[in-house]
Amino acid sequence: MPAQLHTENLSLKIGHQQLLENINVSLHPGEVVALIGPNGAGKSTLLRTLTGFQPPTSGQVLLKGKDLTRWSSESLSRLRAVMRQQSTMAFSWCVEDVIAMGRAPWPSDNTNHVVNQVMALTGCDALKGRDFSRLSGGEQQRVQLARALAQLWHDDIPQGWLFLDEPTSALDLYHQQHILRLLKRLAKMGALSVCVVLHDLNLAALWSDRIILLHKGRVVADGTPDHVLDEQTLQRWYQADLRVLRHPDHPVPQVLLEQ
Ligand SMILES: Nc1ncnc2c1ncn2[C@@H]1O[C@H](COP(=O)(O)OP(=O)(O)OP(=O)(O)O)[C@@H](O)[C@H]1O
Ligand SMILES: [Mg+2]
Repeated sequence: MPAQLHTENLSLKIGHQQLLENINVSLHPGEVVALIGPNGAGKSTLLRTLTGFQPPTSGQVLLKGKDLTRWSSESLSRLRAVMRQQSTMAFSWCVEDVIAMGRAPWPSDNTNHVVNQVMALTGCDALKGRDFSRLSGGEQQRVQLARALAQLWHDDIPQGWLFLDEPTSALDLYHQQHILRLLKRLAKMGALSVCVVLHDLNLAALWSDRIILLHKGRVVADGTPDHVLDEQTLQRWYQADLRVLRHPDHPVPQVLLEQ
């Protein structure tokens, strides 16, 4: 059975609203996939469904060939981690404890080792000992990413499926680049599949292997950055005035808005 996560004719209807319609996508280890689309397209909803938090009303999500609803929550939490679009903490937790929460599915003997490793990778070292609730928005995002990575850390590498909902929305340029370079490098190690919701199409162009474009709950494009970030395709689905140019240093498209 191929090590992959895929959907078969997945649909979700809540009340009269068709939130997802006939979605067929697959996510493979080694790959960074960007999920893009206008506000309200269904990106966060699809992430909730792909991760087992929102069962579909028809169709299915298969992980390693087995329907997601048939996985125990413990086995599932060792295989997939999620960083949500909004996350709040009701209590005061220090940064290391928030990251260590990601280790809940695993034996506790190497918790400190893994927490230290992911803190170093995500640039959270300087936040050691700080109260999570008092961190800036971007600092909180980096800690949440470290927590999600800690959850998938196994035999000294991240393994499984990592889902991130707009993980760079509060990050400055340095940290956007740092985090996307990191995700790409970790995926290329071969055992991790990254599925990341991004509004910044230029980040998606630079660091994703594949882009899935959602519009009103349907997949309207799925392919390489060059295929999906096409001027007509983007104008049609985003209804924005824009140009698509080549990056001067890399063989990828870059999107510019018209004034
Ligand atoms: N539980 C629900 N019941 C009814 N409608 C919902 C529910 N959850 C989401 N929706 C609606 O589904 C649509 C898709 O929402 P979703 O949050 O998935 O969009 P999104 O693509 O992530 O948008 P954004 O870019 O703004 O984050 C929206 O119109 C939203 O109002
Ligand atoms: Mg969303």
